[in-house]
Amino acid sequence: FKDVTDRKQAQANFQKLAAFPRFNPNPVMEFDADGRLTYFNDAALQMAKATGNTDPLQILPSETDNLVKDCLATGKALLRQQTRIDHRTISASFFPIPAINTVHCYATDITERIDLEMQLRHSQKMDAIGQLAAGVAHDFNNILTIIQGHLGLVQDHKLDQNVSDSLHQISVATKRAASLTRQLLMFSRKQVMQIKNLDLNGVINNVGKMLQRLLGEDIALSLNLTVGLPGVMADAGMIEQVILNLAVNARDAMPKGGQLVVGTSAVWIDEQYPRGNPGAPPGQYICLTVQDTGCGMDVATLDRIFEPFFTTKEVGKGTGLGLATAYGIVRQHKGWIEVGSQVGHGTTFRILLPAAARPTEPPSGDTDLMTVEGGDETILLVEDEPALRDMVRVILEQYGYHILQAQSGVEALKVWKEYPREIDLLLTDMKMPEGMNGRELAEKLVEEKPGLKVIYSSGYSRDVAGPDLMLKEGVMFLQKPYHPKTLAKTIRDCLDQKSTPA
Ligand SMILES: Nc1ncnc2c1ncn2[C@@H]1O[C@H](COP(=O)(O)OP(=O)(O)OP(=O)(O)O)[C@@H](O)[C@H]1O
Ligand SMILES: [Mg+2]
Repeated sequence: FKDVTDRKQAQANFQKLAAFPRFNPNPVMEFDADGRLTYFNDAALQMAKATGNTDPLQILPSETDNLVKDCLATGKALLRQQTRIDHRTISASFFPIPAINTVHCYATDITERIDLEMQLRHSQKMDAIGQLAAGVAHDFNNILTIIQGHLGLVQDHKLDQNVSDSLHQISVATKRAASLTRQLLMFSRKQVMQIKNLDLNGVINNVGKMLQRLLGEDIALSLNLTVGLPGVMADAGMIEQVILNLAVNARDAMPKGGQLVVGTSAVWIDEQYPRGNPGAPPGQYICLTVQDTGCGMDVATLDRIFEPFFTTKEVGKGTGLGLATAYGIVRQHKGWIEVGSQVGHGTTFRILLPAAARPTEPPSGDTDLMTVEGGDETILLVEDEPALRDMVRVILEQYGYHILQAQSGVEALKVWKEYPREIDLLLTDMKMPEGMNGRELAEKLVEEKPGLKVIYSSGYSRDVAGPDLMLKEGVMFLQKPYHPKTLAKTIRDCLDQKSTPA
């Protein structure tokens, strides 16, 4: 009896052990000393099938028999041997079992991990470039604001034709430099957004005319807009910029003419959606599609298109900032960009932006820079850069305003203590030395005088508010560098706003 019980017990143990490789969810294989496959579990077979094969050996390196022999000869394990098959990466490790002259192999599909690592590396790289770009652009903006301001001041005088021609050239160059820094800031997501609940179709219709002019006669533009879409919480100017950048690229990709379709649609994103933005919450998104019939791109190009200064265009034709800017803007709006392209078969860009919960507001009209009214209100001007502060004071005094100045938040508080009643508006730089930044200063003053109007001015907002400062009523934002008239207009608009909820 004892014999039978022992045998049964041994059999049970055997089955129990055999279940380990058999039901292992990862491929398990065994090789003999000649490198022949002597055992494989179901997971190995399933993985082979998933890659379009029937032989489990296909998911291992092609020289597996030699690997196995080496393994036994040296008595050392061979770890993480990678095989690429059918767009998947499989990693296999081999362990020699000298006592029974066999080699065990364990494999795993590491495709997802590798993809995630690549995405992480990519976003780290983009962040690093962004920080560098933002740093340069910030200092440049102060300099450009001074140049632009003084240009504005002297251009109003009667000048010799030669001098005024030169000044005009300087002004054109300054604008180009300003647009470059603006793009860099957008890429680095350090641009302050003026967020509104926007109707995307409205934005597209607004730029439609400009688009057609930009594309020329040989390219047919069609709009494929879905009516009744939910809004998106977005900065209209930034979204226009994205559309224009994509349209210019499409035009350049169709030198002999073609078709450009700009479309909108609603897309529901669930967990299954293979998105370019891991971690985006599921929900309702609005999709902006820009599709061309141009030359398309190869994989190597596609890989790098969002890098700043990556361009395939001749020197002087492209700076490589178009898509980098679009990328930064869309990320700042918590969306992402998908690209489909094939050489010779055109390109489709899809931009996904989260839908807003509330219905849309009508877009505001264009700023008419030519007729700006002044006023006799009192403005507290806080700016640490002396040349810039002087210039702003001169401009605003020309418009009739009374100016009180301070070079830091602390000094501004002193001025405020002396004239608390007189001050109607605070115009402050956001980033300032001496502990108190522009936002803290403003919040303190508004608390004491709830009707106070506030204008923040900055190249970007990182130091103060993070990338997505939202502006309340009675609070405005003035992007550096600015034209004197834009300054005056922003001041007037802000003063004319009715309520100021704190
Ligand atoms: N629609 C498209 N079709 C084909 N290639 C494109 C398309 N859009 C972008 N590309 C490729 O991506 C590159 C980068 O585009 P990006 O807009 O960032 O820079 P650019 O157009 O070269 O210069 P910039 O926009 O600063 O004038 C382009 O040089 C081009 O090779
Ligand atoms: Mg471009």
